[in-house]
Amino acid sequence: MDTALWTVDPTSPDPGAIARAAVWIRAGRLVAFPTETVYGLGANALDPAAIRGVFRAKGRPASNPLIVHVPDPALVVNVAAEWPTTAGRLAKRFWPGPLTIVVPKASGVPDEVTAGGPTVAVRCPAHPVAQALLEAAGVPVAAPSANRSTGLSPTRAEHVLKSLGGRIDLVLDGGPCTGGIESTVVDVTGGVVRLLRPGLVTVPMLEEVVGTVEIGAKANGPARSPGQMEKHYSPRTRLRLVDGNDLVDDFLEAQSAGLRAGVMSLYGPGALPNEPAAYATELYHRLHELDAQGLDLILVELPPDTPDWAAVRDRLTRAAAHGA
Ligand code: TXA
Ligand code: MG
Repeated sequence: MDTALWTVDPTSPDPGAIARAAVWIRAGRLVAFPTETVYGLGANALDPAAIRGVFRAKGRPASNPLIVHVPDPALVVNVAAEWPTTAGRLAKRFWPGPLTIVVPKASGVPDEVTAGGPTVAVRCPAHPVAQALLEAAGVPVAAPSANRSTGLSPTRAEHVLKSLGGRIDLVLDGGPCTGGIESTVVDVTGGVVRLLRPGLVTVPMLEEVVGTVEIGAKANGPARSPGQMEKHYSPRTRLRLVDGNDLVDDFLEAQSAGLRAGVMSLYGPGALPNEPAAYATELYHRLHELDAQGLDLILVELPPDTPDWAAVRDRLTRAAAHGA
């Protein structure tokens, strides 16, 4: 199929373009759009055939459920069977924004969306293009990151086209995403708040609102978030995490072994910003660029083991987990 590319203003997108894209969503077609985290691949969450199309386009295992997006917190009633107090508090503080909340699903949400499970992940994104599209669509929109399964997430329209061009109907190009990594995912169904995926809403930020947050899925429960499969968010090029002190030595060693190595460091010329939010904004773009260079190896300086770097470290660790 041909993939259309429409450029829209990121802060005030043309209502005509948004209305046409919304018609496509309602008609069961696949529309990639920018959010404040990464680009999403949107489809009508109430249309099982469209949802199957999302899994096909991404090559995603049917066992990995999708996040459902709504333009307004009040609309969760259409997809959630229950809205626990903690969910309400979190939504009030962080929505619209980069937080996804797992709650019991309403019966109208197709099994395809939730991978047959009893819960649904819901997010209300802040990006003006996402907001406008969701409002115009008038249906909840399921949207995983707009990339082939296990690959690098897209933070620009060109990343989406590289990965899914010819496999989806439309990309709305609203420029680079500012957040840069996927939303924080929390599960509030068990009477406690569980962090399933770290993100830009950090654990200290969550704990300010809801008290103690448990880290990771319940060891013996079914609620393990499949997006936390070890290998994920990966470039094709082999990626190795290294301590800052070893970076130069490891680079020289790779060179003398005849390997072409690229480097992502926190200091020196060409370094990424040494600040978690600014680093996250650039992370996937830099990895896409390095991945396109046909290198043998990407050496990444591991950022500090502190709570503010947790989400970035999580993505880097998964990007390094080759063959898992
Ligand atoms: O920032 C984001 O969240 C982006 C934008 C487009 O909104 N979306 C995104 O979707 O990252 P995706 O499909 O790439 O990641 C969704 C994550 C996966 O780890 C999935 O396993 C988890 O959310 N998830 C979805 N539904 C779930 C559920 N009912 N229970 C537990 N985890 C769930
Ligand atoms: Mg993804």
